[in-house]
Amino acid sequence: MRQKPVIIVNFKVYSESIGENAVRLAKVCEKVSIETGTDIRVAVGATDIHEVSESVSIPVYSEHVDEYPLGKHTGSILPEMVKTAGATGTLINHSEHKVPLGKLEECIERSRNLGLVTVACAENVEEEQAILGFKSKPDFLAIEPPELIGGDISVSSARPELITQSVAAAGKTRGVRLLVGAGIKTLADVETALRLGADGVLIASGIDLASDPEKALKEIIPS
Ligand code: G3P
Repeated sequence: MRQKPVIIVNFKVYSESIGENAVRLAKVCEKVSIETGTDIRVAVGATDIHEVSESVSIPVYSEHVDEYPLGKHTGSILPEMVKTAGATGTLINHSEHKVPLGKLEECIERSRNLGLVTVACAENVEEEQAILGFKSKPDFLAIEPPELIGGDISVSSARPELITQSVAAAGKTRGVRLLVGAGIKTLADVETALRLGADGVLIASGIDLASDPEKALKEIIPS
């Protein structure tokens, strides 16, 4: 049997994947996870964490946490808040919602101390290496070239060398698993990422916007 990827479906804030659609999509992800025996996790908007986590048994992560401490920070989304809402992990530093590099390690450490699984995002190998140099390391490092996010050309086809380089950089760091993302849409994209040494993928539009998300998800899972 071929290696099964870890798949994190990032719901972002598409109308197709927020509110009641977030619950519907999470249930699809859960169904495919059970039917195919694949480790599928979902990252959802903060306002959907509670309802989604009550509705499915697969891991539900926050798409973001802010670096601020508890206190006078109106509108912030803090690790303590997403945990209370039911999240068991969080993306941190997605290129669409960065955390200042100087605060990133603290943010990872604080989330880890709360028992949250941490998925730190990096735009390139330099940022990846900075994160891997932290004393408090994330559970996952997700590398995504921003220019390919949301498009039809995947990181696997356009930037395979980025996967190879980031695998090499992460390989020296025990305990950090590597995900790649941006433009992932096909089984070939996933298989290339795995063949080059990634542990899985971070995917959004290929599933969130698919006319049949169940079919789209099943199609990218190696049998
Ligand atoms: O976090 C995943 C995301 O940024 C990739 O987006 O739409 O290119 O799969 P997409």
